[in-house]
Amino acid sequence: MLAHRVRSLSEILTDRAREAGGRSGETISLIEGLCGAAAQLAQRVATPAADGSLGDYVGAANSDGDHQRLLDIVAEELCQKAAAGAGVGPYLSEETDGPLTLVRGGRLALAIDPLDGSSNIAVNGVIGSIFAIFPAPQGADRDPGLAFAQTGRGVIAAGFFMYGPQTRLVVSVGAGVDIFALDPASRGFVLMEERVRLPGGGREFAINAANARYWREPVRRYIDDCLAGADGPRGENFNMRWAGSMVADVYRILGRGGVFLYPADVRPGYERGRLRLVYEALPMAFLVEQAGGAATDGDTAILDLSAAKPHQRAPVILGDADEVAILRSLHMTPQDQFPRTSRLSVAG
Ligand code: AHG
Ligand code: MN
Ligand code: MN
Repeated sequence: MLAHRVRSLSEILTDRAREAGGRSGETISLIEGLCGAAAQLAQRVATPAADGSLGDYVGAANSDGDHQRLLDIVAEELCQKAAAGAGVGPYLSEETDGPLTLVRGGRLALAIDPLDGSSNIAVNGVIGSIFAIFPAPQGADRDPGLAFAQTGRGVIAAGFFMYGPQTRLVVSVGAGVDIFALDPASRGFVLMEERVRLPGGGREFAINAANARYWREPVRRYIDDCLAGADGPRGENFNMRWAGSMVADVYRILGRGGVFLYPADVRPGYERGRLRLVYEALPMAFLVEQAGGAATDGDTAILDLSAAKPHQRAPVILGDADEVAILRSLHMTPQDQFPRTSRLSVAG
């Protein structure tokens, strides 16, 4: 009897890329390069540091005014090196001031959040890296920013690494979502789950409720109704989770559904929420849509948005398509016609 041969990450992604009808070789090499960087990062995270913590602030503020921690910088160095090694042209990271050109003539562009959930570092919580790969458009050598002004419909591939009890890669090249886990002994990524689909009907929401007093009416109504549970208009109990890192929240939603929200709110500077469009919202929206879910900013599908500036923010509502549709209906309802209860039909 023939032994069952385990297919490698590159074989699986090559099949998927063929199915998606896209260019594959360079994209898969880049994903493999990022896997190498993630394996090194995972090892660094798992090793107790003799000289202070990876979560220590190291002074400088990044593009967005967030203070960089030591691990933000380590992650940026590893990711940028992997991208350059894979021939990436335009490169945009949360940790760079703006778009760079790594390799002139490079046909792929990479947008990356090298270290997501950095406030979790100090508490040994889940952290990750989020990425989106675009084609480098004409003229990108002169102006690498052009690559990141495309809508999310230009994304060729997207994924995230999750550094948790296991290091996992959630990835799509446009033909479904597959999940791999890092085997620390071989440093290879092995397939855990293929063609992941949101199960539907999730009754769980993720939002930072400490911001409740700043929410706008549509979000307040939705959460109020969830909190009212079986006694409220939804007639069902909901559960709540907030991991403090989008990778962990989105990973959970891919497994058991529900919604994740980082909405716009009334605080100055939060008119478009907190998360960055190009390297946080777009890759996650790509993955969630590929897994049968939906992602909106309250009005427009996230994948139909394009960034007017590289580090632009976007409100993010993603997860089960039915719940995202209810949230969109609430956002589309004129304030003076707000229903007494928000039991809106999905079509409404
Ligand atoms: P980053 O560490 O790259 O700045 O991103 C953290 C993000 C996201 O992962 C998480 O969902 C959110 O910020 C948490 O924000 P709050 O601290 O406002 O809850
Ligand atoms: Mn982030
Ligand atoms: Mn980050």
